[in-house]
This record gives sequence, structure tokens and C-alpha cells, in this order.
Amino acid sequence: MRKEVTLITGANGEVGHGLIAHLGRLEGARVVALDLQPLDPALLPSCYRFIQGDILDGMLLGRLVSEYEIRAIYHLASLLSTRAEFTPEAAHRVNVEGTLNLLRLGVEQAHWQGRPVLFLYPSSIAAYGLPSLAAKERAGRAREDEWAQPTTMYGCNKLYCEHLGRYYARYYRQLAADTSTASIDFRCLRFPGLISAETLPTGGTSDYGPEMLHHAAQGEPYACFVREDTRLPFMAMPDAVKALLMLGAAPRERLNRLVYNVTSFSLSAGEIYKLVQRAFAGAVVSFEPDVKRQAIVDSWPADIDDSAARQDWGWQPDYDVERAFSEYLVPAVARRYGREATVTA
Ligand code: SER
Repeated sequence: MRKEVTLITGANGEVGHGLIAHLGRLEGARVVALDLQPLDPALLPSCYRFIQGDILDGMLLGRLVSEYEIRAIYHLASLLSTRAEFTPEAAHRVNVEGTLNLLRLGVEQAHWQGRPVLFLYPSSIAAYGLPSLAAKERAGRAREDEWAQPTTMYGCNKLYCEHLGRYYARYYRQLAADTSTASIDFRCLRFPGLISAETLPTGGTSDYGPEMLHHAAQGEPYACFVREDTRLPFMAMPDAVKALLMLGAAPRERLNRLVYNVTSFSLSAGEIYKLVQRAFAGAVVSFEPDVKRQAIVDSWPADIDDSAARQDWGWQPDYDVERAFSEYLVPAVARRYGREATVTA
């Protein structure tokens, strides 16, 4: 008998860290973790199995299908927005072809099992693309269906994969004679910039938020690559994990959409600096905007409207800005680098 498992791709990334610890340790799910890089040893006890490999490796995915009954897929692997701009075609392969491979794997599993396979997909504020800073200032809180004209490869990839998820969940091979078989139960979250105390993101454009905090906690100066008045929505990592788990657990009939915005608080880079300074006396941040990365952040909304998630499945973040910094980010990041925080509240 094949064992029922939950598959997590991009397991070693920042969302993977929080999610694996929760699913494996607290919920007792059999987690099969997949990542290109070796897994952080701290996560191994929470995993049923770790496989080091590539989501573009068809043979590897084929073996997974033959070995396991995959009940849920959290497809987290991707190349983030800044990194993707250096190698757009490689990013497309990882972000789109990789997702396509996982969607197909999910559908195939659902066919074998005769029941839907849950497919959780993190999308991003990068799926938005506002045409100018003036438009960003006027736009206010963006709803899911507004401003969907991303300017980055990563954003295009995320937006397209939202559509692919809908296609695979509802229309895959719609002209085939036998259309009665089960498919994936595709659910997608558009995350704001995520801030984790445990890990640093690699290659994102909202990274100045987490980087400011991690540098200050290590007593290092930080040159922020956006202007002080640059505003983005953010979320503390435990809330990102909570959102994935809540959306995954929501009754299907309550979901009126496949793609939901979620957010916690919206901050300017200058406001993040003040919070970081309050926590780590002597933190030094200079604002040295990189015109091109700045333009990317200027195309992302200052805030997003997550009322659909609140209405349909009761989304509410645990961490507002005050709690995020005083109860999670500052104490955890200080512990991580063996530093004293000046204040914790
Ligand atoms: N954090 C991501 C990035 O900056 C946006 O989702 O690429």
C-alpha cells in the first residue's frame, strides 16, 4: 500500500520552514519535502522523507507518483522577483514549467485516488503592476482583480500560474470523452512581503524589510535599496503559515474564489527603520535607492484588500504591526543572533 503523504516543494525556503514545522510536528502529517538544496537539519525530524531534487526532473516526480499517495501539495518552490530578472527564461522554467509539472502530478494523483488532491499555491503582490507611482498613491487597497499587469518575470509567472491552477482544477482536457474524474482542489493566496525571524529570503524585491531587521540584529549597517517613503504591505511569517493552513482547511463550498489576497499591515521603509531602531539601539540604515528595484516596488500596491478572505474563510492575522515586532520578530531575531533587544514592546 502506498502511504498517504503531503508534498512540500521549496521545502527549505522561508515559508517551507514554518510550514513543515507546523504540519510535521503539530499536525502529524507525513511530510515529503522536496528542495534543490539540502534541507535545514532542524527540519528533518518534522519530515517523513526529504528528497533533494529538482521540480523540473520528470523522472523524480514520476517516482513520487509511484511511491506515494499524495493527498496535498504545497508548491512553494520558485525564483523570486529580483533574482528572476537576472535570468528571466530560467525563472520561467522554474516558476511556470515547474508549477505545470506539479499541477499535472496533482491531477494524475487525483485520477488514481478518485478524489480531489488539495493544491496550495502561494502567489504574490508581484502579480500586480501599477503603471506609475501616482497610480499607486491613488489606488489604495488593491482588490484581487485590479491592476493585474505585472512588470516582472516573477509577477507574470505568478499571475499565469494562478490561471493555470484554475485551468487544471476546472477545465483540464475538457474535450476528453471521460471528464468525470477527480481533479485538484486548487487554492491560492496572494501574499504581501513576508518577514521571518528564522530565515532571510533570497532574491526578492520586498527583502529590504527583513534585511533591515536581520542586519540590525547582527549590529551591521544596512543600505536600503528603496526610498524611505516606499510603502508595501507585509506579514509576519507565522501569519503566512496560518493563512496557508486556514485556506487549506476551509470547506470547499465556502470558497467563492480560487485566489485570495491576505495581508497584515502596511509600512513604509522609514517606518520599518523606526521599529528596528526602537528594538536595536544603534541600528544604522541609509537609504540608497536602486532606481530599477525601486521601480519594481513602485509598481506593487501600497496595500491590498483581503476582505474576500475575511468573509469566505474567516481570515484574520494574529500579528498586527505592534505584535509582529514586539512578540515575534524582535525577540526571535535577537535570539537567533545572540543579541539583546533594547526594548521588546
Ligand atoms: N517577496 C517577493 C519578492 O520580493 C514578492 O512576493 O519577490
